[in-house]
Amino acid sequence: ASAQTKVTLNADEGKHLISRHLYGHFAEHLGRCIYDGFYVGENNTKIPNKNGVRLDVVDALKKMKIPNLRWPGGCFADTYHWKDGIGPKAKRPKIVNTWWGGVTEDNSFGTHDFLNMCELLGTEPYLSGNVGSGTVQELSEWVQYVNFEKDSPMSNLRQQNGRVKPWNVRYWGVANEAWGCGGNMTADYYANLYKQYSTFMNTQVGKEKIYRIASGASDNDYNWTETLMKNIPGKLMEAVALHHYSVLSWGEGQKSSATQFSDQEYFKTMQQALLMDELIEKHSAVMDKYDPEKKIALIVDEWGGWYNVEPGTNPGFLYQQNTMRDAVLAGATLNIFHKHCERVRMANLAQAVNVLQAVILTKGDKMLLTPTYHVLEMYNVHQDATMLPVTVKSEDYTLDNQKLPAVSVSASRDKAGKVHVSLVNIDPSKPQEISVDLKGLKASGLTGRILTSANVRDHNTFENLTKVKPAAFNGAKLSGDKLTVNLPPVSVVVLEL
Ligand code: AHR
Repeated sequence: ASAQTKVTLNADEGKHLISRHLYGHFAEHLGRCIYDGFYVGENNTKIPNKNGVRLDVVDALKKMKIPNLRWPGGCFADTYHWKDGIGPKAKRPKIVNTWWGGVTEDNSFGTHDFLNMCELLGTEPYLSGNVGSGTVQELSEWVQYVNFEKDSPMSNLRQQNGRVKPWNVRYWGVANEAWGCGGNMTADYYANLYKQYSTFMNTQVGKEKIYRIASGASDNDYNWTETLMKNIPGKLMEAVALHHYSVLSWGEGQKSSATQFSDQEYFKTMQQALLMDELIEKHSAVMDKYDPEKKIALIVDEWGGWYNVEPGTNPGFLYQQNTMRDAVLAGATLNIFHKHCERVRMANLAQAVNVLQAVILTKGDKMLLTPTYHVLEMYNVHQDATMLPVTVKSEDYTLDNQKLPAVSVSASRDKAGKVHVSLVNIDPSKPQEISVDLKGLKASGLTGRILTSANVRDHNTFENLTKVKPAAFNGAKLSGDKLTVNLPPVSVVVLEL
């Protein structure tokens, strides 16, 4: 029998926007994300590209409506010296990518390549600055190089390298994981460094103010957030970050297979994913103490499922497959971000192509869209829409005497007045019958799309690109102010009213 979940949708209580930037992505110099993912080289005649950037990837990301892209790391960012990646490619120095596989990095993809690619994608760049092994001068010069219009040493250098107009990059990270790969710093030490670096970052970007993002806490390190909020004045910091991965254990090879996971491993992954709600609530509560007006945003600039690498691939490359587990993980996480959209105003799924919970995988000239891609594409109707609060009394999904809410829901009203409701059932075997009370909404029409598959381990392969793909959904009925939805096991549905 179907389980029963009760939802109230408060269509008359919408106050806050779901920033499109909650749908952001991340591209690090890691494994095959940049090289052999986004960038296949200018001289590649087999894979259609513009200035070396794969056009199939660009098209797919544009369709998904990618709002921003974080680069060049991650851990790599705190080893990266941006001047290595400008000027004639043949003259660029080679470095070693010490965090990711110890491979040689020839710097053929640098600042111009990335920022021009963002223009091609129609997405806003988010540059992650080097604090761990860089200097204050180096970061302030990078800001001048990409953003300053008039005569200056760095804007002149940019022009010599072929770019006349500045790119006007608004989003800047000041270090990454400063508590770990970014320099193993204490929160106090980093807060001081942050103040020093951010002081010298020119605060105007065209007509707008620069947006500086402090390297944030890992998971439940509330003391980190507290120390930054207490010590850094609001005039120097526009946002503080948070990283949370859904991982079973950090030991090498001890995570779970990306495709051959057990029921228990599936449950634990979902437990980790849903923890995002509590983490955001508690970090926000700390921020509320120092910033009750919510001027400073919380930015989850790394999130997603992290599993063992695919057998036979370089452990330093973090290449993993992507199943329906990832689809429901993404849907449930985005529902959590929507709920907290007043404080959480940007998020970046790790990572866009060929790394961790990727939306795209490539192999030679082939490209596949993962189940996660489809969820982000289906959900993009929520971008910049007004969040409509929902209350959910969900049935439990139980395993070995443990339980999680089976259903998660979020809703929004877009600028044209259309209401979208996204629903996720994480239970791998039980369908859910959901009754939704529509408060303050007179709906006249109903359409929907669903992503589901018979098994939670189902995924797309280069041999079968469309095993998991969205379909029209006809499991919902509207009668007056009541909506009834039948959600199959492991499914993600987006309804339009
Ligand atoms: O996304 C992979 C890595 O995870 C990033 O480089 C780092 O910031 C995090 O630990």
